[in-house]
Amino acid sequence: MIERVYLTGFMTSGKSTIGPILANVLGWEFFDLDKVIEKEHERSVVEIFEEFGEEYFRNFETETLERLCKHHNTIISLGGGTLSSDKNLSILKETGKIVYLRISAETIYQRLKHKIDRPLIRDLVLNERPKEEFIQRINKILDQRKNYYEKADIILDTDNNRIGITVDLLAAEMRRLMNACD
Ligand code: S3P
Repeated sequence: MIERVYLTGFMTSGKSTIGPILANVLGWEFFDLDKVIEKEHERSVVEIFEEFGEEYFRNFETETLERLCKHHNTIISLGGGTLSSDKNLSILKETGKIVYLRISAETIYQRLKHKIDRPLIRDLVLNERPKEEFIQRINKILDQRKNYYEKADIILDTDNNRIGITVDLLAAEMRRLMNACD
């Protein structure tokens, strides 16, 4: 029985956009991990990083995940860095199915190049650094996370897919998994 689906993937891979639509299609509950953390702090992720530091954010991320993973029939959009520790990987594996929305470094660059709400890239945008530096940073982070992301139960290459197509593919895949588990 599948009771939870976790959406993972790099920043801008579409987790927060696809999550609520998929939840709506399935009639499930939806949580966005970053939004839950922001609400509880009454601060943006950037402000939390600046005020309390990344380590604090990562610990709070795990604590929040430990609470959310008790909900049933739920889709949870993770932050891009949630699935980058053994601890979080085991929480996710033990409590649900993981979907990795995979996109290329080039697509990530195109989507991130003007965004100042991502603490791990923000300095490059603010300092108007060249594309090569963005790609370097993106690849470095991707390399650190790749082995975790690729432990997902479903991997979808979404570079060229429209959101509707991704949702349809995922909903079909989930129904298949649910039938297989009945
Ligand atoms: C992060 C991704 C962000 C957010 C924080 C850290 C990361 O979420 O959790 O800025 O480490 O990749 P999105 O993937 O939703 O942008």
